[in-house]
Amino acid sequence: MIILKLGGSIITEKDAKIPTINDKNLARISKEIKSALNHLDHTNDYNNGLIIVHGAGSFGHPFASEYQIGKPFKIEEDFEKKKIGFSLTQSWVKKLNTVICDALREEGIPVVSIQPSSFVITKNKRIISANLDIIEKYLENGFIPVIYGDVVLDREETIKMAVVSGDQLINYLAKHLKPERVILGTDVDGVFNKNPKKHPDAKIITEVTSLDDLESMDSTTNIDVTGGMIGKIKELIELAEIGIESEIINAEKESFVEKALCGEIVLGTTIKM
Ligand code: IPE
Repeated sequence: MIILKLGGSIITEKDAKIPTINDKNLARISKEIKSALNHLDHTNDYNNGLIIVHGAGSFGHPFASEYQIGKPFKIEEDFEKKKIGFSLTQSWVKKLNTVICDALREEGIPVVSIQPSSFVITKNKRIISANLDIIEKYLENGFIPVIYGDVVLDREETIKMAVVSGDQLINYLAKHLKPERVILGTDVDGVFNKNPKKHPDAKIITEVTSLDDLESMDSTTNIDVTGGMIGKIKELIELAEIGIESEIINAEKESFVEKALCGEIVLGTTIKM
């Protein structure tokens, strides 16, 4: 099985003031996924299907941050307001998921939408309960589940709700479903020692084996409500520790997603032990 993440910065205009899809990327990547699936159908190294995980970009982060989902609160009035924010965020990320599923289905991919807020529960912002039986059943039947960063209920009384990133979902799914490969499509070439969007002399780190490799990394690099690049790598290092390798690639580059799905090496960062 392969788990593929499409980052919010790829499929949406992440810095847009209102939720905006990146139509061009979405259409191109949907085609790439379709042709990779055609190719993989004829090879033997691909078992038990593909799960697509996507981020929220401008459909999630602005709302989650405005309503401080996952931040402690005290008074009942705050909770009422937060519930509206939760509902609003849930609604926008669901809309994004619908658009993504539509684009993939247009290519003839039998996608099925999986909504985390309907079955995932966290404690202190980490998933503690999520029954994956339904996902496994869909995979067995040849469907391609499409799951995404969402808001969920949290057992911790002081926060009551949390944001679950696509990266945390990957961590949980991979630990339980043991995929052969995990691929993360982002808007940068991989992990850099500095933010490549601000520093032209930034160097790519092609292999990360521990958080120490990132010591020199500017900690403000790419921070959003779910932790940006550092948050992503922490999730992936946990997987490397149990023998699941992952790769971060630039999904903005034409054919990279397709090649990576087909098992070809493309420029990027591998996270392994
Ligand atoms: C965030 O998911 C989910 C919400 C803000 C509700 P991600 O953290 O996976 O999204 P991107 O990829 O960074 O946009």
